[in-house]
Amino acid sequence: VAAWHDVGEPDDFPDGAVWPVLADGLPVAVFRQGEALFALYDLCTHGAARLSDGYVEDGCVECPLHQGSFDIQTGAPCKAPVTEAVRTFPVRVVAGRVEVSV
Ligand code: FES
Repeated sequence: VAAWHDVGEPDDFPDGAVWPVLADGLPVAVFRQGEALFALYDLCTHGAARLSDGYVEDGCVECPLHQGSFDIQTGAPCKAPVTEAVRTFPVRVVAGRVEVSV
């Protein structure tokens, strides 16, 4: 059963960038775009690379290893060699705290 986990406050997450957190021990990459927050599992589906080490551009995050990329909202592949979507997690802000459901 998924549960909400506190991962910090909104200002911990730089606008336009990605930041790594642990939610219930699970590595999660949290993205901020203005007021919106998104979360993906922090592991590329193509190999052993952290998406939180990647580069965010045009709504996608580029993997640092082979430059494949994922849509930060849906987890869908944006660019080869990535072919498999990465898992997404719901994010919310409650009473000034960011929570991820895993
Ligand atoms: Fe991410 Fe290859 S490991 S694109």
